[in-house]
Amino acid sequence: MHQFPEHFTRQDFGDDFKWGVAISAVQNEGAATLDGKGRSIWDVFSQQKGKIRDRSHPHIATDFYNRYREDIRLAKELGFSVFRFSISWTRLIPLGTGAINDAGIAFYHRVIDACLEMGLEPYVTLYHWDLPQALEQKGGWTHRGTVFAFEEFTRLCCREYGDKVKNWIILNEPFGFTSLGYMLGVHAPGRFGLSYFLPAVHHVALAQAAGGTVVREMVKDAVIGTTYSCSHIVPYTQQSQDLQAAARADALFNRLFIEPALGLGYPADAFPLLHKIERRYALWRDWDKLAFDFDYIGIQNYFPLTVHFNAFMPYVQMSEVKASSRQVPLTGLGWEISGEGMYNILKQFAAYDGVKKIIVTEGGASFPDLIAEGNVPDQQRIDYFREYLGAVLRAKREGIPVEGYFAWTLTDNFEWAEGYRARFGLVHVDFETQQRTIKASGRWFQHFLRGADVAA
Ligand code: NOJ
Repeated sequence: MHQFPEHFTRQDFGDDFKWGVAISAVQNEGAATLDGKGRSIWDVFSQQKGKIRDRSHPHIATDFYNRYREDIRLAKELGFSVFRFSISWTRLIPLGTGAINDAGIAFYHRVIDACLEMGLEPYVTLYHWDLPQALEQKGGWTHRGTVFAFEEFTRLCCREYGDKVKNWIILNEPFGFTSLGYMLGVHAPGRFGLSYFLPAVHHVALAQAAGGTVVREMVKDAVIGTTYSCSHIVPYTQQSQDLQAAARADALFNRLFIEPALGLGYPADAFPLLHKIERRYALWRDWDKLAFDFDYIGIQNYFPLTVHFNAFMPYVQMSEVKASSRQVPLTGLGWEISGEGMYNILKQFAAYDGVKKIIVTEGGASFPDLIAEGNVPDQQRIDYFREYLGAVLRAKREGIPVEGYFAWTLTDNFEWAEGYRARFGLVHVDFETQQRTIKASGRWFQHFLRGADVAA
């Protein structure tokens, strides 16, 4: 990785660069049925047989609901100055629309106050995948009513927290939750097929702009972003069929939600099937409603993807050439480790005219960490952060406007369909006792954030 800076310190990123750590409601809070919270699609999905690998559920998770002060203090202790978390829609509005749950409202006031008190800037995500089950029963994201319900929820959040919170993230990884939840059926709500996926995509794209518009109207001086999962796409060969397969993958994995937000419409040029959305919603005249002028874009890149043509894959006619078959470094989940992929994807997103700033709103890796006598020597995670931060710094030095990096994640937590066995934390959690232990990577971050020089 010689083209990356070999040694760097946090000062190299500049004084204004934001260093944060991120969590989410489902993955951390627990208290799934406590104090009036309604059920989300993840509460229901995780109870169905065979959906979560280790047969676990998010009902207790890391008990952030009760331990938020301790965890926010840990984030502070590690040296971060931003704390990113999400608001659980069903804690505030148990049925998705209508009646408000005061206990839920009070909880996020406590969390925000704790952040402010400890000198951490709160970044609030409005939607991190926990749709109210009551809305799912009416069609979920395949139903237009969900967009209006999301606006209602967003208005409530702005009214309640707008005086204290300036930084808002509208959606977390729209392609992530629409593809896994509505196309492949491996995440909540577990639907699969194009007839669910395409309407879900469209309503989520509408919600991304509608949510941004509400925050802009209601919160003075708000800084508004939204996040995208993304992967640098590499064609397996230079043959035209593989190149076209790569273009389709790029349209889906990288372009699908940012381009409508930028006023460019859906990337049907590379993936003509998306014309179906345009035909289906022609009567609604929705095209102007998809754009929103975000202050920054959140990039969440974990791995690059190598793809090739595959005639047997319905609709997409392409598939991934598994990283495990290519002798590349892998994380515990078999994801390819590539700082170069990070550098390339930052360049790709920065090339859009409408992208003013970028924050890496998540970055991290899962490894099967072992704890022994109070130590978690997770050297691989340290190497991962070094490599990816080196890539971010290289991009920044070349003029790419990256203005922050938020590590995913503070504590080990509920990794969706993987359950608790995939550990991404800088802090180890013993899920029997809820004991937290700072891993070597957490210490490494602390050291780095205090100004130490690290080698890439
Ligand atoms: C993206 C998601 O936003 C987050 O919830 C998840 O835990 C990480 N990626 C790791 O898979």
